[in-house]
Amino acid sequence: MELTRKHAFRGEISVPGDKSISHRGIMFGAISNGLTEVTNFLQGADCLSTISCFRQLGISIENDGSKVLVHGKGLHGLSAPSQILDVGNSGTTLRLISGILAGQKFQTTLCGDASIRKRPMKRIFTPLSEMGARFQCWDPGHFPEQRKKTSSDCAPFTIQGGALKRIHYYPPIASAQVKSAVLLAGLYGDGITKVTEPVLSRDHTERMLSGFGADILSTDTTAAVWPQPRLKGQSIHVPGDISSAAYFIALGLICPHGEILVKNVGVNPTRGGILKVALAMGGKVSLLDQRTVSGEPVADILISSSSLHGTVVEGGMIPTLIDELPVIAVMAAFAEGTTVIKDAQELKVKESDRIATVTENLKAMGADVTPTEDGMVIRGGRPLHGARIKTYGDHRVAMAFAVAGVNADGETSFDDEGCVTVSYPGFFEDMGRLGE
Ligand code: S3P
Repeated sequence: MELTRKHAFRGEISVPGDKSISHRGIMFGAISNGLTEVTNFLQGADCLSTISCFRQLGISIENDGSKVLVHGKGLHGLSAPSQILDVGNSGTTLRLISGILAGQKFQTTLCGDASIRKRPMKRIFTPLSEMGARFQCWDPGHFPEQRKKTSSDCAPFTIQGGALKRIHYYPPIASAQVKSAVLLAGLYGDGITKVTEPVLSRDHTERMLSGFGADILSTDTTAAVWPQPRLKGQSIHVPGDISSAAYFIALGLICPHGEILVKNVGVNPTRGGILKVALAMGGKVSLLDQRTVSGEPVADILISSSSLHGTVVEGGMIPTLIDELPVIAVMAAFAEGTTVIKDAQELKVKESDRIATVTENLKAMGADVTPTEDGMVIRGGRPLHGARIKTYGDHRVAMAFAVAGVNADGETSFDDEGCVTVSYPGFFEDMGRLGE
């Protein structure tokens, strides 16, 4: 595929369902009693991995391509899988499912793709081991033909669950995946389990578990869960993913004639950092028809072309826009002045090392950017030219640079644009429809 400059992006669009909320709908439905219906479910590869893992754990899940029905069997209704669970590219599947498996009286072995095998899992092994689960990692070079033990803290690994102790865990980094894994394990604990984060990460688990009937309380950056004998299946309507809407926010702002309305987007404040950054950069972005759907704040987002200027993105704001930083970096390259992104070391352990992959591709397009230990410095305003983008199999890198490509001189192509299916099948078609 080759992208070239388009001067106008106009119209209305609905982005696919939220990835974080889609995963949780399947997982919480599986350990509830009765039927859970998930509408506007994200049919991306990551969420399909979650469905396939829970099917292997004995849960019947019907998926007609938009609505998903999960026939939950209760907290203790999962059965030992006969095969290794493959989470594909999905860190959320791997970390959250581990919290549930920590409470099961059987062993499960999990693996994933080349990216997942490099991602740090010690962050969940530490608290879940403290609660009583046991982990063994396997050398990926010999796996699965041979299981050679390794002391590395990555997938593939085997988890042995069982009776769990309560903990009060203070993760050193704000991570919703870590928090969620501990809270889910806490459902199987012998008392109240608490997680206190340095900064609040996305709170979809707390909101949704409460909807399923869990006893869960959030105060500031602490979430506390009581052991729960029974969750009840729910109907969940998944809002559009603000992480997917982010590409159209950037596109509408950057292109000379942008007027885009993104309908039905989840605007949970723990996810809304992109909106604050857009405003801080001088972007014209407004929220229309704000409402609550399935316990989550939802709005339509109206974006129009703006002259952007540089800003500083740092501190407590980082967890609220962690997945949007690649496209924020692209926005910064089109803004006048300097943008500094800091306190974002977590970028290094995402689907790719996003400090390295974003700076490499920005440089390839002619931007003035310097990587730092915890982010990057972008001196914006230089005209960008097309390039061959190296995605490193990272969906967010591909989509962020598609936004850059349609605003640059010349042609932009990708080594692997197919990776967008991880979170946004149909992304290029949707972008194409808005372009004039
Ligand atoms: C997610 C949490 C974030 C985010 C990921 C989805 C979730 O990861 O980057 O795409 O659904 O809980 P961390 O918890 O590692 O920050």
